[in-house]
Amino acid sequence: MADSFLSIQHVNKSFGDVTVVQDFNLDVAPGEFVSFLGPSGCGKTTVLRMVAGFEEPSAGKIMIGGKDVTRLKPNQRNIGMVFQAYALFPNLTVAQNIAFGLRVAGASRADQDKRVAEMLEIIKLPQFGERYPYQLSGGQQQRVALARALAPKPKLLLLDEPLSALDAKVRVSLREEIRAIQKNLGITTIFVTHDQEEALSISDRIAVMYGGKAEQVGTPFEIYNRPATKFVANFVGTLNVLEGTVSDAAAGKVRINAEEIAMKGRLNGSKTGDTMSLALRPEAISLGRRPGNDARLSGEIADVHFLGSVIRVRVGVGSGVVSLDTFNSPATPPPSVGEKTEISFSSKDLLVLH
Ligand SMILES: Nc1ncnc2c1ncn2[C@@H]1O[C@H](COP(=O)(O)OP(=O)(O)O)[C@@H](O)[C@H]1O
Ligand SMILES: [Mg+2]
Repeated sequence: MADSFLSIQHVNKSFGDVTVVQDFNLDVAPGEFVSFLGPSGCGKTTVLRMVAGFEEPSAGKIMIGGKDVTRLKPNQRNIGMVFQAYALFPNLTVAQNIAFGLRVAGASRADQDKRVAEMLEIIKLPQFGERYPYQLSGGQQQRVALARALAPKPKLLLLDEPLSALDAKVRVSLREEIRAIQKNLGITTIFVTHDQEEALSISDRIAVMYGGKAEQVGTPFEIYNRPATKFVANFVGTLNVLEGTVSDAAAGKVRINAEEIAMKGRLNGSKTGDTMSLALRPEAISLGRRPGNDARLSGEIADVHFLGSVIRVRVGVGSGVVSLDTFNSPATPPPSVGEKTEISFSSKDLLVLH
C-alpha cells in the first residue's frame, strides 16, 4: 500500500519446529486503528511482539514509516505499548510511571512535568499524579498505562488485550475512551482482542486471525456481512448454518429441506448433487412472509427469548434450528412455542461458506 505507515510483509515465526505465524501480511494506513481478532493461541501477541521488536521474525519484513525495522531493537522503533494488566511499576507514583519513558530518553525535569500534566488531562485523571498503582481501580491503572505509552509521543501504539482483565461495564467505557484519544492524537494503532464485539465496535479495520494466519482483513461491516471463510463467519457474530444441496447447477438452484432457493451465479463451480453450507445472520430472517424475501422455509417455533426491544426466536426447520431476531411491537404478542410457522429471507443474504 502506497500510503501505509506500518507494513508487515510475509512474516513467519517459528519457535523450534512449531510455526506459530504463517505468511502474515498487513498494511496499516497512518492514523488507522486496526484490531487483531482471534481465539487464544492464534498468534496475535506474537505478531504484535514482532512489530514491537521483542521477537524477531523467522522470515519476512516489517516496515514502520517507510523504514525497515525488522532487525531494530524495541527502543529504536518509536512505539508505545500497553499490555493486558498489572504492567505499571508498583513502586512508582502515577506521575513517575507516566514520566518513565521521558526520563529514560533524557528529557528535562520541566519537560517531564509538563508532559505528565498533559497526559493526566487526556486520561481524565488530573488529580491522580501522586497516587500509587495499588490505589487505583483496574480501569484507572489501564488509563495510566495508556498515558505512559503515549507520553513519549510514539508514532505507533500497540495494545495487547488492554481491557480483558476489566469487568464488562468498565471495558465498554474504556474502549470508547481509548478510541477517542487515538482519533484525537491521530496515532496509528494495533489493538489485540479476542472479543468480537469489541473489535467490531471500535476498529477502522479488523484482521481476523486463526492458526497464525490472517483469515480476512476488512472493515467491521465487511467482516460481518461478507465473511471470507467459514471460520470468520462463525467467530464473528451469531450465525445460522443450513446445509443445502445443489439441485440444478445450470439453473443455479439449491435445495434446503424441501424448498428450492435461487442462487444463480453464486455456486462457485459446484455441481448438481454437491452439498454446501449456507449461513444466515439472525437479523436477515423474518418470521412469516415479507415483501422482497424470495426464499421461504416452513418450521415450528422451538423457543422464544424476550430480550426487551428485540425478541430472539428459534425455529426448527427440517433437521436444524435457526435463530432470528424480531423487534418487539407492543401491538403484536410474540409467537408461542410449538406454533407452526414459516420463515423467509432474501436469498441474496445467504452466505456461501468455504
Ligand atoms: N516464546 C515462545 N516459545 C514457544 N511457543 C510460543 C512462544 N510464544 C508463543 N508461543 C506459542 O505460539 C502460539 C501463539 O501464541 P500467542 O501469539 O501468544 O497467541 P495469542 O496472543 O493469539 O493468544 C501459541 O501456541 C503459543 O503457545
Ligand atoms: Mg495474546
